[in-house]
Amino acid sequence: MSTARPIALVTGASGDIGGAIAQVLGSHGWHVIGTYVGAADAAAATVTTITDAGGSAEAMQLDQRDPDAIEALIETIRQQHDRLDVLINNAAWNIGIPFRQLDELTADIWDRVMETNLRAPFLLARAAATLLSAGDGGHIVNISSAGGISPGSSSIAYSSSKAGLNHLTRCLAVAMSPNVAVNCIAPGLVENTRMAQRLPDNVAEGARQTAVLGRVGQAQDIANQVLAFVQSTSVTGQTIVIDGGMPGAMR
Ligand SMILES: NC(=O)c1ccc[n+]([C@@H]2O[C@H](COP(=O)([O-])OP(=O)(O)OC[C@H]3O[C@@H](n4cnc5c(N)ncnc54)[C@H](OP(=O)(O)O)[C@@H]3O)[C@@H](O)[C@H]2O)c1
Repeated sequence: MSTARPIALVTGASGDIGGAIAQVLGSHGWHVIGTYVGAADAAAATVTTITDAGGSAEAMQLDQRDPDAIEALIETIRQQHDRLDVLINNAAWNIGIPFRQLDELTADIWDRVMETNLRAPFLLARAAATLLSAGDGGHIVNISSAGGISPGSSSIAYSSSKAGLNHLTRCLAVAMSPNVAVNCIAPGLVENTRMAQRLPDNVAEGARQTAVLGRVGQAQDIANQVLAFVQSTSVTGQTIVIDGGMPGAMR
């Protein structure tokens, strides 16, 4: 398949936020390649929503814990499209382990979180660097978490992986300049998402009560900010928090 549209790769397009991001980019002229690891039906539903609205999209399977699979995915995109304009590093994995329960956070869980949430975004950026640099101005947007700024969220591993992703954003903004802008969105609790449902109850309720705007984020808020970043020509290395205004995450 080839298309004259600019191409956006959205990881985790089978998920709640990734689906919203894919739809916004699809409705603004990008051909969207949306990845999933197991939820083929959900990824197909995202594609159908985009194409039914007149957009262009396809789904591709990717286990982003596998470095070879990442290389193969980008090579497939090169062969089929020979361009890539936008990479949205959205896919992630979490599990609810209260911070004080140190013994429950095993080495295997730590590795799964880090490989999915931090190593894969780097490997995807590295594999895609040549294609992203070739066009008029490539963009990477990493989807992090407010838990990467102030200690909180689903587990110590998740919070640490997202802190790493925030700093990876700054490092890649330097490494991939001047042709690629690299920015980051750090959501707090995002309502009506499965990931939010895996948060310990007290964490989710605490977020709702602390937000100074009286509400937390929606998936559409994240998608709209992605669009703002990829339409910008002069912003790089930035992380913006979308959480309804948590004093602890204001920097
Ligand atoms: N929801 C929130 O409240 C919240 C708050 C802060 C930050 N975030 C961040 O927002 C992003 C999206 O979250 P979400 O709520 O939309 O989560 P979600 O609905 O659970 O979706 C997660 C996505 O990641 C994919 N994924 C998981 N493991 C993978 C792997 N090994 N290889 C490839 N893909 C994998 C899943 O694929 P399958 O569907 O195929 O399993 C799914 O598409 C994440 O980076 C998350 O950390 C979310």
